[in-house]
Amino acid sequence: MQKSSTTHSTPPAAEHNAEGLEAAYDAFRAAYPDFDATARFDTLRASEFARLDANHHVYLDYTGGSQYAESQLTEHEALLRKNIFGNPHSENPSSQVSTRLDEQARRYVLRYFNASPDEYAVIFTPNASGALKLVGESYPFSADSRYVLTFDNHNAVNGVREFARARGARITYVPVVAPELRIDREQLLNELSHPNRNGNNLFVYPAQSNFSGVQHSLEWIEVAHSSGWDVVLDAAAFVPTNRLDLGVHHPDFVPVSFYKMFGYPTGVGCLLARRNALKKLRRPWFSGGTIEIVSVQGDRYAFAEGERAFEDGTINYLSLPAIEIGLKFLEKVDVQLLHNRVMSFTGWLLENLSSLVHANGKPLVEIYGPRTTLDRGGTIALNFHDPDGRVFNFHHIEQAASQRNISLRTGCFCNPGAGEIAFGLTGSDMRECFIHEERSSFERCIVAMKGKTAGAVRVSLGIATNFEDVYRFLQFARTFLDIAAP
Ligand SMILES: Cc1ncc(COP(=O)(O)O)c(C=O)c1O
Repeated sequence: MQKSSTTHSTPPAAEHNAEGLEAAYDAFRAAYPDFDATARFDTLRASEFARLDANHHVYLDYTGGSQYAESQLTEHEALLRKNIFGNPHSENPSSQVSTRLDEQARRYVLRYFNASPDEYAVIFTPNASGALKLVGESYPFSADSRYVLTFDNHNAVNGVREFARARGARITYVPVVAPELRIDREQLLNELSHPNRNGNNLFVYPAQSNFSGVQHSLEWIEVAHSSGWDVVLDAAAFVPTNRLDLGVHHPDFVPVSFYKMFGYPTGVGCLLARRNALKKLRRPWFSGGTIEIVSVQGDRYAFAEGERAFEDGTINYLSLPAIEIGLKFLEKVDVQLLHNRVMSFTGWLLENLSSLVHANGKPLVEIYGPRTTLDRGGTIALNFHDPDGRVFNFHHIEQAASQRNISLRTGCFCNPGAGEIAFGLTGSDMRECFIHEERSSFERCIVAMKGKTAGAVRVSLGIATNFEDVYRFLQFARTFLDIAAP
């Protein structure tokens, strides 16, 4: 499709139904007038993400992992080709190159999040889960502690409960409320107003849900602080399309995965940690890199200062310079503008998916979470229903999408709590999954649920998404109209 001399962005030519695409695009732009200001992302799609169109690929799993720009690869490769890198923290010149670039990356992470180096430290980890594990295993939980977390959380946050449990802390889940899947405000306020005054208290919640896309209020951070809680803000799903300003908000710990922000490299994340909160943590072991001094015969050791005490072994010194390159790329493209663009597509998808009905008037899809763009991001969880209201198995949807070269995600997205509320599963439903077998499987669990849904389809949008991607997903959704679920 070609548009005559216009400054507006144009979607690339569709293979099929070009007229339908063009008409839909015009209607979309009329409905979302701010969208035209994001035209630079269509240019980027052609210059930096051309492989998507070359492969006719509709990529809709940005919450799983973002796509990298080609210039990130070129810049990183040039850096690797030019320099001699060695294991950091030594005096030799190759080591010095690594140390310099790694420390530069650390400073750039602070700068990107507007975090004062006096207040925050950056601890490099393999991913957000690694960052959460660092907090979980080192937090001074005791029988006089509380661990409060929302139902809506990634499994890495759920997993921290096992560290808390092992040390006798009281664990409390605060529910989210269907259909919007937002935190139950009253219950959370009630829990936060009752820390255990004799011990340490930790509260964890996600800035954005990786299940429903809900953005939970950042105001909870200071509400919790004012009652003496330490706060982990899981920002892994939030920061790819939103700015997190740590000069304004001051969570104690913030885990992120960099591949979710800019696609490349995988294997590096970080824990942004307030230096004061870091002093509370007690590491359960030491390793190379984390100690200042250790003795075999003396049977003692002393940890290194600050972030170094938390980075086990050799850091990923070849990949760390790529973090600065990725962050600079995000700064250049303007994440706030990206947010606006993604929200235009999200609004359009929410409206159009909701309006799809079978011939008998029954809706095709059920969307879990907010149906408007208010306080949410570009992640949509949904299930497909047939005209009799039966749910299409999500594996079936994923297979059909894959045949059309559409990458989306299905299942519970490592966020079982949000799913349990969304699907109306109760504690006793879930306990059924675990009674028969020592090692329960997801498939056995589905059988135990006697027909209730235990998973969904997730589409998530990001830096390279264009109108044709969301249009092609909508066209794909239409193919299930008036079809009986197998
Ligand atoms: C909100 C949230 N937290 C944590 C994680 C874990 O990230 P990773 O698998 O990179 O450790 C994810 C991954 O999807 C996530 O969405």
